[in-house]
Amino acid sequence: MTVPEDPSEPPVAQHPQPGLDIVRTVSDLRRKIARFRREGHRIGLVPTMGALHTGHIALVRHALVVADRVCVSVFVNPTQFGPHEDFAVYPRDEAGDATKLAAGGAHLLFAPAPEDMYPPGDTCRVTVPGLGDILEGAFRPGFFTGVATVVAKLLIQALPDVAVFGEKDYQQLLVVRRMVRDLHIPVRIEAAPTVREADGLALSSRNAYLSAEERAIAPDLHWTLTAVADRVSHGHGPADAEQWGGDTLVKAGFTTVDYVAVRDGESLEPWAGPPRPGRVLAAARLGRTRLIDNVPVP
Ligand code: PAF
Repeated sequence: MTVPEDPSEPPVAQHPQPGLDIVRTVSDLRRKIARFRREGHRIGLVPTMGALHTGHIALVRHALVVADRVCVSVFVNPTQFGPHEDFAVYPRDEAGDATKLAAGGAHLLFAPAPEDMYPPGDTCRVTVPGLGDILEGAFRPGFFTGVATVVAKLLIQALPDVAVFGEKDYQQLLVVRRMVRDLHIPVRIEAAPTVREADGLALSSRNAYLSAEERAIAPDLHWTLTAVADRVSHGHGPADAEQWGGDTLVKAGFTTVDYVAVRDGESLEPWAGPPRPGRVLAAARLGRTRLIDNVPVP
């Protein structure tokens, strides 16, 4: 495996990949992973909800650098969707996903049925109070409980050495890290940088919902966050910069702005300024599509 000199370019697998196996049950998953282990391989897991795009394949490539057998789970997790969210219509394309994963160098696709992930009578949930209740958690109650629960299940089912999550879902990454630390799950959590279109829009399966007019406005989310980060790094107060960011998004044509927040990059508490790492996070709607994004404070 080679890591390219330009860090924006995903690493490339040098060896021909042996093809993609598909498993659907936890016992088949464990059998495959046990075989990889017997062969002396390091296992990487990339959890996804399918509808895979270049951003997901970048996670696979990242996993191929830190592990030598990569399993990708594709499961549209019902417990992380609110009652009025898009669970029923969330894009699903297993055949297309499998083709992209094979081309991207993944070795194993785990595509469980809902009753395998949540057996009849299943009641246990993993909650991450505090970190899971703010920002996205405040606007999508129960979202991070659904995420932490399914990720805990996937990590326990596969027991990989390392699992890769995108920085695009920055709060999710921190919630998963906290959960893994608190529950002593012996898996290293790796963060992979956000992949963007040429105009700055972060790749997301939900971008498919945008109309042509909304798609033209959508990159302003990234540029506004970048400008907010720039403002606070030049000494503007976080509250003023957040207000300016929200106003700018509305002027750009966003229908509603859930939040623009300047936070500590590790705890997501209000940012205390340097030397603490800062992160600017936002969620805003364009018509019926809700977009999220985040950037570091330089
Ligand atoms: O980021 C996602 O696609 C999902 O939240 C995850 C981590 C696969 C859990 O369902």
